[in-house]
Amino acid sequence: MQSYTSILKHVGNTPQILLSSPGDRVALYAKLEWFNPFGSLKDRAALWMIKDAENRKILKRGQTILLEPTSGNTGIALAGIAKALGYEAELIIPSKASEETKTLIRRIGAKLLETEDDLCPRAGPGTDQCIALANAIIKAHPERYVMLNQYANESNFYAHFEGTGPEIWGSLRDVTHFIAGVGTGGTLTGVAAYLKKKNPYVKVIGVQPQRAHHIQGLRNLEESAAPELLRRRIELIDEWVKVSDGEAFNAVKTLAYTKALFVGPSSGAVYAAAQKVAEKLNSGRLVLMFADDGRKFWSLYDEFKVFTREEFNYYSRYAKHLPANPLLYEEPLRTRLKMES
Ligand SMILES: Cc1ncc(COP(=O)(O)O)c(C=O)c1O
Repeated sequence: MQSYTSILKHVGNTPQILLSSPGDRVALYAKLEWFNPFGSLKDRAALWMIKDAENRKILKRGQTILLEPTSGNTGIALAGIAKALGYEAELIIPSKASEETKTLIRRIGAKLLETEDDLCPRAGPGTDQCIALANAIIKAHPERYVMLNQYANESNFYAHFEGTGPEIWGSLRDVTHFIAGVGTGGTLTGVAAYLKKKNPYVKVIGVQPQRAHHIQGLRNLEESAAPELLRRRIELIDEWVKVSDGEAFNAVKTLAYTKALFVGPSSGAVYAAAQKVAEKLNSGRLVLMFADDGRKFWSLYDEFKVFTREEFNYYSRYAKHLPANPLLYEEPLRTRLKMES
């Protein structure tokens, strides 16, 4: 199927850019994950999990509905990739997720169910409405629904062990630190396992937002139990750095004002954490995972006065390294996918 190959081709191999100035003591590189076709690092996990389920022959085109609790980006990625491959998707999302995220998921054509959970679905037993709702739906219709369960699915780990990790190593053999946030832990553990296999001295830093945070996609591990996927390999994380909402939003502004980069809030949190790490180093080459760009965060950036409407519009149009993401922001998605299949 042509749409499969064309989506496949565009997932991964994202650009890695130098953020610091040449000659700086500590060099910071950012991996720009919004270059994925559905706009975030989660395209990788979604594609790997669907490919694996296809290999295990548990999906039926035209029949299977992929049901997944998600805080946003996995929803967008699963909705888009499922659509391209001929599956339906139903996403269960906390109502606190941004309106723009919900609009994008609906525009792609997936069904959206909302629950009153924290921003990042809790993965611990019995605490989380959206996981409970997903389990109830599957129990009632086991023949129609499949839950890939990003919180425990090994393919989420392998997307980064086989994709992101080798990409980073391939472009920077002397990487000293890898810094990323945690939703499921797939990114952090997958990249960590690969880089440490290549060089056991690479340090892996996990970024955690404050309690009751507003950083869509990230998890505070005091508030919410570590997901199964993270627990399996938690020893790979050398250090955790905490970042407040204010620090993350300031970093979002700094990146826009000084580097003309328009990032989402989790990239701001990662950049703020990297500054804290870099302060303690004499030298190093740090790779930062920038999960998504700022375009779907107007309501958040407005609420927390990160940008004025004029600034937001300006950076949405003129920021550096901001691809058109035509599957999300331009032509209607359905037309585009139909044309490719
Ligand atoms: C914006 C954002 N940043 C970071 C992450 C962390 O990714 P992972 O689930 O691989 O831990 C996510 C995941 O949902 C995300 O949406």
